[in-house]
Amino acid sequence: MPTPDESDAARLLAPTTRALGAMHRHQIRREPWPDFDAFDPGAYPRELRRHAAWHWVSRAQAEHGSVHQFSAVTHALCEARAPVELLGALARLITDEVRHVELCGQAALAFFPEGGGDGRLFAWRTPRAPWPDAPEPPGRDVDAETREARELALRGWASRAILTACCLGETLSKPMLDALAVVATDPVARACAEQILKDERFHASFGWEALEVLWPTLDAGEREALQRQLARSLAGFERTTCGGVTIEDVANTAIEIGPSEEPNLGTLTNEQFAMIFFATLEAEIFPKLRALGLDPERAWRERGARAKGDGAKGDGAEDHRPEAAAETRADTAGGADAAE
Ligand SMILES: [Fe+2]
Ligand SMILES: [Fe+2]
Repeated sequence: MPTPDESDAARLLAPTTRALGAMHRHQIRREPWPDFDAFDPGAYPRELRRHAAWHWVSRAQAEHGSVHQFSAVTHALCEARAPVELLGALARLITDEVRHVELCGQAALAFFPEGGGDGRLFAWRTPRAPWPDAPEPPGRDVDAETREARELALRGWASRAILTACCLGETLSKPMLDALAVVATDPVARACAEQILKDERFHASFGWEALEVLWPTLDAGEREALQRQLARSLAGFERTTCGGVTIEDVANTAIEIGPSEEPNLGTLTNEQFAMIFFATLEAEIFPKLRALGLDPERAWRERGARAKGDGAKGDGAEDHRPEAAAETRADTAGGADAAE
């Protein structure tokens, strides 16, 4: 266990009761837990460890945001009386994300056992979904027509959340975690990335499968809303993932991510993040969006206006770490994937 200190991160990760701890571990620790105690801080320079701790605690908060998002989606789909198989799969996603919070948080605390100090390094923000709250539930005393209209609105809302969090977020996080595992020179960092990667593969396929189920149940208006959400989400991910690196900057550059020659505790450069982002959009995400019936090229063209419009809102996001939609991206300021 990490040395307890006064930081938010240490408090969230602290043990509670024996029985609760046992239930939690039974549910969460599906694989051998990384040996955080084996990490030797003396083997790495202090600044490198502090920088890595910042990455990992930011990642932990993004994962915490995923718990928040997937539980909200479960809630909405339950109110929409969606097929039970969707709820079962989502229940697994929620426990997986709790595991990721713990893995990333423990890694951060292990890498910088000096603790949060002034409290800023290990400060933990309240999760906030990058989209508005779900629409009103049908309730019990409404006529059939109202109930159908409200269930449709809930399915539309859940589709937009799943598109953003799973089809884009989780699909992007797979190659990024793969790269993190490759560049990491420390077994603890590598073990964390590898464990999370296995789950994120499943989460991405959940997203595509779930939309295949939900899409036929949406009307033209909800499908158009999903298409518009796609443009907003692409803008949001580009902003939070690429750290200002544009597609022009990395065009015609071959992606080469190999084992790092320098000590690396699981961090990538902006260029590496950007190249993975654009390559994954082209090779995997756009074809799957097309197969679903969405128009990724239109969304890509429209995302520019969205990005500018969102920036102009000035919602204070520059003070924050990236929002949860960018699970793997943790070191730039201003991440709100500002959906309307
Ligand atoms: Fe995750
Ligand atoms: Fe995930």
